[in-house]
Amino acid sequence: MHAIVIREPGGPEVLVWTEVPDPEPRPGEVVVDVVASAVNRADLLQRAGFYDPPPGTPPYPGLECSGRISALGDGVSGWSVGDEVCALLGGGGYAEKVAVPVGQLLPVPTGLVEAAGLPEVACTVWSNLVGVARLGAGETVLIHGGGSGIGTFAIQFAKALGARVATTARRAKHEALRELGADVVIDYTEEDFVQALGGKADVILDIQGAEYLARNLDALATNGRLVVIGMQGGRRAELDMGMMMAKRATVAATALRARPPSEKAEIVSGVRRQVWPLVVDGAIRPVVDRTVPMPDAARAHEIVASNEHTGKVLLTVP
Ligand SMILES: NC(=O)c1ccc[n+]([C@@H]2O[C@H](COP(=O)([O-])OP(=O)(O)OC[C@H]3O[C@@H](n4cnc5c(N)ncnc54)[C@H](OP(=O)(O)O)[C@@H]3O)[C@@H](O)[C@H]2O)c1
Repeated sequence: MHAIVIREPGGPEVLVWTEVPDPEPRPGEVVVDVVASAVNRADLLQRAGFYDPPPGTPPYPGLECSGRISALGDGVSGWSVGDEVCALLGGGGYAEKVAVPVGQLLPVPTGLVEAAGLPEVACTVWSNLVGVARLGAGETVLIHGGGSGIGTFAIQFAKALGARVATTARRAKHEALRELGADVVIDYTEEDFVQALGGKADVILDIQGAEYLARNLDALATNGRLVVIGMQGGRRAELDMGMMMAKRATVAATALRARPPSEKAEIVSGVRRQVWPLVVDGAIRPVVDRTVPMPDAARAHEIVASNEHTGKVLLTVP
């Protein structure tokens, strides 16, 4: 098969479409013939040499894919060769084939290509907004980076839960985010989001990390929950525990990729139960910025690095 190999840590130019050995399914795995994958921010870090794949996963980038099952490993039941699926991966989505533990497979809730961009965002957003933050109807949630793959999904999911949604993004993305259901859209380059929020947030889903920690705590309501899932603004900052105590606040941080397959399977099954029906009935739609042929993954990485995209950049197998 062909896959995108990272020739050496570096810029987009180190991504090369080349021939590599086909994967063999281990017990409890299937092989998926990949139709499409998607670029996640983590792929850019992996390419630069800062985010190694967890042990046992392929070295090629790609945290999600869609395609058709082409082989079954020992002990697999409930899935058949030819089934159309999408999958949460520890790596290896930028390839013509990938072996996937069955617990990480999902049925395709939309078109097959656009389904490639759903598993990573759905699993991340559901496990954090529901699992960690217990976001409830009528609460206010602040979603940082509303124009990201994560943000465009989180806005729609939070609205479906009945929350009031505020989000931060550069102005060019505001109209699209209002169309997705955001009630308050804040241009973080011009306004202080704590002021612009117009009240306090019960839940904050943060991707900036250190840069926003103090202001996120400021923006939290009493009993508020801050969940940090990204460190785009750095990893170390001071935390005012006095303010945390006064607000009885929770500050949590999570990462999906390194979780063991059993935890990923639990999350995938929760997503199938609580999120997939919303996608099937159109309450949540995949937001695809554009589709790039997989051999041109370098160009797709440049687009994502520039932040000019809104939603997901997909990669299709030629
Ligand atoms: N922990 C986990 O399990 C997990 C899983 C998946 C993703 N993530 C993290 O979630 C984040 C989003 O991932 P993605 O793949 O969806 O990313 P993405 O599509 O590449 O989007 C990144 C976004 O960051 C926004 N941004 C940049 N600076 C900002 C700032 N100061 N304030 C607010 N927004 C800002 C950009 O929007 P503008 O153009 O508006 O600036 C851009 O939309 C990344 O940090 C990623 O590592 C974590």
